[in-house]
Amino acid sequence: MDSKDVANDLTKVLLTEKEILARLEELAHQIEVDYEGKDLLLVGVLKGATILMSDLTRALKRQVEVEWMAVSSYGSGTKSSGVVRILKDLDADITNRNVLIIEDILDSGLTLSWLQSNLRSRSAASVEILTLLRKPEAVKVDVEAKYIGFDIPPEFVVGYGLDYAEKYRNLRDIGVLSPVVYS
Ligand code: PRP
Repeated sequence: MDSKDVANDLTKVLLTEKEILARLEELAHQIEVDYEGKDLLLVGVLKGATILMSDLTRALKRQVEVEWMAVSSYGSGTKSSGVVRILKDLDADITNRNVLIIEDILDSGLTLSWLQSNLRSRSAASVEILTLLRKPEAVKVDVEAKYIGFDIPPEFVVGYGLDYAEKYRNLRDIGVLSPVVYS
């Protein structure tokens, strides 16, 4: 669906599908250069990274393999605590592999910080992070994303895979959710 289909639920459109796809082309090119001559395994984090993964992989002009993990952050309400549980683990052994974690958003950074250390402990050759969005809070924690799509303000965003109560993932654009929807 498009922003106009849920216009009453959004205070604004932050990033259009066109802007996102243009940025993915740039990121794909950087990845091609950085990993030239190396194998590359993309690890998507369910469910938010599904749309991003499908567009990013098709923007890449090289072979890649794709794996998925599902994790859950324990926390109160909308705040993540940093205690992470694996709901679905990788199917593949990542020993000596070049892993690039694909995430939709770096918010507090706690999930990705934990996930990067977890994958690093499995003897991968490298474990880097690509996040489509990064919020200012994430800058404070010890997690460095090699590829960042967009730095965004600390607002509740939905669309392009990001949800509120499992809805809006299929919105093409990324929009700021109106407080009317969640209060
Ligand atoms: C979101 C997002 C990250 C995490 C970021 O996942 O996809 O995994 O929160 O938050 P943090 O930086 O504060 O740790 P969510 O738990 O909403 O699951 P989903 O991808 O299935 O929507």
